[in-house]
Amino acid sequence: MRVPIIAANWKMHMRVGEALEFAERLSHRLADLEGTEVVIAPPFTALAPLAGALAGTGVQLAAQNCHAEPSGAFTGEVSVAMLADLGCRYAIIGHSERRQLAGETDAQVARKLEALLARDLGAIVCIGETLEERQAGRTLEVVDGQLDGSLAGLDPERAERVVLAYEPIWAIGSGLTATPEQAQQVHSQIRLHLVSRLGDAGQRMRIQYGGSVKPDNAYALMEQPDIDGALVGGASLDPESFWAIIRFDVPPGESA
Ligand code: PGA
Repeated sequence: MRVPIIAANWKMHMRVGEALEFAERLSHRLADLEGTEVVIAPPFTALAPLAGALAGTGVQLAAQNCHAEPSGAFTGEVSVAMLADLGCRYAIIGHSERRQLAGETDAQVARKLEALLARDLGAIVCIGETLEERQAGRTLEVVDGQLDGSLAGLDPERAERVVLAYEPIWAIGSGLTATPEQAQQVHSQIRLHLVSRLGDAGQRMRIQYGGSVKPDNAYALMEQPDIDGALVGGASLDPESFWAIIRFDVPPGESA
């Protein structure tokens, strides 16, 4: 009942020429794709060119960040309305790299979420524990706290535009993926949290897994009942491997 959502997070990679080449190599394959939502989050600089190159393919564009205020003296920031102008459908907010490197807090994530929803955009809200927190047995407590803080103002009417991305920090860019069972354990806890706060809307919200998703582990992860998609960093930079992840429903060994 939940449409799987596979998103590419290109981080600070891909200049305009590279992004356009990627789009060209992927777009002909997307014509026949059904039943999966595909999202690409390029750097801000490639949003406008990609919007043109991907027009008609069904791929949705996402920004990697946004500012909560509509306009003002915020040097270097980009507002939600500016993203909407470029055809963005989503923004990723609360990514662990921004939480760690730019000090983004749950309260800021909640304000950005409100700004996105007010403009009819969707959000991919990232949460996840550090290695120390996992080793101390605090994973579920940390994730619950992030959900409480980041989704503070969310109501059931708008909940389905919000996608959660569970990304254990120790799995990001490390090659260490959470096992499907480890991921499902946290995803089912997130589901319980969403349903207890938002009722049926919580059942309909999608929860992505992120952290070293690759073509060879996507199938087993996506088989889990509460894993509804993937947020993919490194493996999304190559159109072949991103395509193989989009076709997660093809078991390993069979060609996509
Ligand atoms: P990774 O990154 O797939 O390279 O681990 C995922 C992310 O940071 O969203």
